[in-house]
Amino acid sequence: MRVARREGSTDYSLMLRVLSLRVLAVLFAVGCAGRSTAIGRANPAPERYPIVPAPRRIEARSGEFQLDPATRIVLSDPASTELRALSELLAAPLRAASGLRLPVSSEPLKEGAPHAIGIRLTPGPASADPESYRLVVTESGATLSAPKPAGLLLGLQTIRQLLPPELEREVRLQSPWKGAAAPTAASTPAAPVRWAIPAVEIEDAPRFRYRGVLLDVARYYYPPEFIEKVIDLLALYKLNTLHLHLTDDQGWRLEIKKYPRLTQIGAWRRETILGQNFRPYIGDGTPHGGFYTQDQMRDIVAYAAARHVTVIPEIEMPGHAQAALAAYPELSCTGGPYEVSTVWGMHEEIYCPSERTFAFLEDVLVEVMRLFPSKYIHIGGDEVPKKQWKESAVAQEVIRREGIAGEEELQSYFVRRIERFLLAHGRRLIGWDEILEGGLAPEATVMSWRGTEGGIEAARQGHDVIMTPTNRTYFDYYQGCPAGEPLAIGGFVPLDSVYAFEPIPDELPPEQAARVLGAQGNVWTEYIPTPARVEYMLLPRMLALSEVLWSPKEARSWRGFVARLPAHFARLDALGAEYRRSLNPGAPGTTAMYSLPRTCP
Ligand code: ACM
Repeated sequence: MRVARREGSTDYSLMLRVLSLRVLAVLFAVGCAGRSTAIGRANPAPERYPIVPAPRRIEARSGEFQLDPATRIVLSDPASTELRALSELLAAPLRAASGLRLPVSSEPLKEGAPHAIGIRLTPGPASADPESYRLVVTESGATLSAPKPAGLLLGLQTIRQLLPPELEREVRLQSPWKGAAAPTAASTPAAPVRWAIPAVEIEDAPRFRYRGVLLDVARYYYPPEFIEKVIDLLALYKLNTLHLHLTDDQGWRLEIKKYPRLTQIGAWRRETILGQNFRPYIGDGTPHGGFYTQDQMRDIVAYAAARHVTVIPEIEMPGHAQAALAAYPELSCTGGPYEVSTVWGMHEEIYCPSERTFAFLEDVLVEVMRLFPSKYIHIGGDEVPKKQWKESAVAQEVIRREGIAGEEELQSYFVRRIERFLLAHGRRLIGWDEILEGGLAPEATVMSWRGTEGGIEAARQGHDVIMTPTNRTYFDYYQGCPAGEPLAIGGFVPLDSVYAFEPIPDELPPEQAARVLGAQGNVWTEYIPTPARVEYMLLPRMLALSEVLWSPKEARSWRGFVARLPAHFARLDALGAEYRRSLNPGAPGTTAMYSLPRTCP
């Protein structure tokens, strides 16, 4: 019966599923993907200092620090377990790769100590950016200093990028994800590797404090080790936030102790639609599912924290809730029954705004807040068809009781109630830009995805904003001409479009521009069934985004970026990460830079 309804091509609910706003946005973005590229100050020596994202200030120096059997790691406080743990993130793979002993000295770091990789916590003024660091490499040693451990972790990534890419093979072998995806290239070096760091002086700090990637684990489940691999990739490129989209119509992926059916039922779908949603329904006949236990999620969050990455959970409401409603149909306005969805797009099955629903969501959020220490909790809020609320006596009664104008404002009421609950627990709410409609919750942060307009409006209203517009940061869109690419949702966001993204819209005066905390690349996964494919969609676009978010606007240079990319491709090969090898969106298999304009055949 339900399957037959899905097969009906004129059915309203199927139309909704097919014409998700995101698909409409795809069609719009195809027409507007920007062609301009930022041409800024050229990197003076991209091959010698192939650092991505480009540092705020970099001074080339001649010579290099050659690591040798006398080289040691020297900490500003040898007794600090925190300093030891963070220095080991680099020292452990470097030992294995170089064959050097690299002992950690029991003496504290002294100025100019030879043969040392020095790591120094130097508490600066309270106003110092906690992510700033300074790196000085001379022929006799390297010294990394920062006011906070975060800056040291970021600076270690810079040292890592100045070392030979062969280091990454050991990073992979020492990681929990080494078996999560097949290495893409043989990483046995043909020639002996010179373990040296080019001399340099770097002063660095980020332009934006929110530098994120969304991974949708609801549409497809990926193993915890793969999420840790993504965290490692984020850390390597100085991105500091992983937004995990944990719940949607097609799957609920987080164990909630009080509501076991969420994962007993909601984490599993009987099959998945084949091909794109536009076609008549044909299922693949293969059940799909999986979920993260609370213990697994705690490990993921800790793994991220050790690498200066915050994990922000997203629990979708009031829409994109069909998997939850399949488990607990009493939370819907119709009573169900529902099944975990096997198709993509927008679904009209949404939470009913009943007291039972609020009690459920609050219980869920309590368990979520115990697992995720992040300041922000994302509650979704996008793509909410109001049909069920229009037809529901319960929803209409809430509208009457609260003196609300209609269903749009009812969504505002819903989000405000959840915001009050989060604020009472010391957390802040983030939602997609639809939460502007019907009135924004007082302290909400807005993720602007349908272009930057929602972000501009939210900043004007005095709210914080994270920019994530489809035409620049949707990493589920094609990065090359569709004929040469794996099936994607549509759209066209080639590498240079990401690189040319400017998160601060011209319309915003400085005090409102300061509301833009940063931006995020989104990997929605309707058409991304495997970890290797996630990597392919993420890389190298994530590198372009990292430079947009970290480097000063004036330091950005498309040519400089492209000149630094081959070094990163070698690094990603050694890490065993998949990526799009061609920089040419029209001609897969070539590494030549394209000339503009370009069209797809
Ligand atoms: C979204 O892409 N629906 C936020």
